Amino acid sequence: MNQRQINQIVEGVKTTDGAGVNLTRIIGSPELNMLDPFLLLDEFGSDNPDDYIAGFPPHPHRGFETITYMLNGKWQHRDSAGNEGKLGEGSVQWMTAGRGIVHSEMPIQTDGLARGFQLWLNLPKEKKMIEPAYQDIESEQIPFVKNDKGTVKVISGEYNGTIGPGKSHTPVLIMDIRLNPESEISIPVMDGWNAFGFIYEGDVKSGESLSKGQLAIYNTEGNIHFKTNGTQASIYLVAGEPLNEPVARGGPFVMNTRGEIIKAFEDYQNGSFTP
Ligand code: FE2
Repeated sequence: MNQRQINQIVEGVKTTDGAGVNLTRIIGSPELNMLDPFLLLDEFGSDNPDDYIAGFPPHPHRGFETITYMLNGKWQHRDSAGNEGKLGEGSVQWMTAGRGIVHSEMPIQTDGLARGFQLWLNLPKEKKMIEPAYQDIESEQIPFVKNDKGTVKVISGEYNGTIGPGKSHTPVLIMDIRLNPESEISIPVMDGWNAFGFIYEGDVKSGESLSKGQLAIYNTEGNIHFKTNGTQASIYLVAGEPLNEPVARGGPFVMNTRGEIIKAFEDYQNGSFTP
């Protein structure tokens, strides 16, 4: 099986979002607008509450899914469909905005480390206006494959017969890989899928050398290979089948045409946005 080559390495840009949460935007930035079907990837991570305490007060979304994976910290989610969930260490909150949802994401903790990722997964054209849905996935519900190489947590998709609990509307693979200091692993990914690996701890070789804070974007053929040399490495690995559909963005809305974005703003303003 041939090994995927890296096409591009990006490091993201520091920015703020919500009510003033400091974060790094890795996908959805001027350098990397999107990687079909992924529209955005943010890493938030700080042990200074000033960086996150203001949280994300109520705001709308339409046309895609948000997948939040917490490495550390405790947050609370509430939405207009009546869903409520606590995000603890190692948990995942999978929200399908569909035709429209208004939600808030606020920290419960007032001190300590809060760290995680938010990924935006596009919805196919015919599913953009589906009813909103929510999956609250506790850390204990996420299966993992553990061996002498390290641990692979499968959040969505399949690895070595282990199937992750996250249910998407377009085929994806989402995993958290923690590699031991001297180890090597090969992850099968469907040919034709786009894939990226974000190194959030340590250094790793994946054809090229990658270090903490770097995102590698791969070509679309073969397995993804990682090798550590003396240090542990943690990688957030994500792959998905591209939709190859037009993308129109307008702040918290992602549709296929400009007209649909204008309609989303109108619906939100006139109150017909949420069920
Ligand atoms: Fe949001």
